[in-house]
Amino acid sequence: MRPSTRQGTFLLASTVLCTLLDLGWPLSCEVCKGSGHTCSGKMKTCEAGKDACVVLVSESSTKGRQAVSTFKACMKFSDCYSGFVSTTMSPNDYMVTNARCCQSDGCNSGSVPPPQNNRTENGLMCPSCIVPFQETCPGTQAARCVGQETHCIYFAGNVQAGIINTKFATRGCATESACYTKAGAEVPSASYLYFIRRADCLPAPYPPGRAE
Ligand SMILES: *[C@@H]1O[C@H](CO)[C@@H](O)[C@H](O)[C@H]1NC(C)=O
Repeated sequence: MRPSTRQGTFLLASTVLCTLLDLGWPLSCEVCKGSGHTCSGKMKTCEAGKDACVVLVSESSTKGRQAVSTFKACMKFSDCYSGFVSTTMSPNDYMVTNARCCQSDGCNSGSVPPPQNNRTENGLMCPSCIVPFQETCPGTQAARCVGQETHCIYFAGNVQAGIINTKFATRGCATESACYTKAGAEVPSASYLYFIRRADCLPAPYPPGRAE
């Protein structure tokens, strides 16, 4: 009886192991962060629950200071949006990103095309604000939406920049693709990691005085 039990255990163990290998778990991804349209770094094993690799390139302006950066890491597949996202808080504060999410070892080793950065105003407007260290923001300013931005967002939560982790709140214009981000998501951007607790996303109203 003993040998057969041991054999059974062995069979069960190898079945489980093969299933895990089959699913590609644990996943490993290239991890790096840097300025420019691509970056390269070491392959790392993803922590539990992070079942996707992401490569994200962003072009941003912070108070008029422009930057291009690339981010590669492990993340949760359900939090990961493949494609283009544009957000605008003011003419000098905006970010456009293009990302690709994938689920096999090292699949984020390449690069993605830079996001289109169409700054032409489209006539839509949204309440706007950017507030560090707080979780709400008044939206008393108005952002003029550009390019394909048809929605207004209100995102708040925590943001991690290096070892610093602080609250943030922001409102502004965004592409409909920004609505993919839900409360509870952990979302990377240029050089920050956002822990989203509030993610409102609504179609932008036309400004008063405009027909239709
Ligand atoms: C840029 O955005 C404007 C406003 O939405 C639009 O009319 C124009 O066609 C866009 N240009 C390109 C190249 O997509």
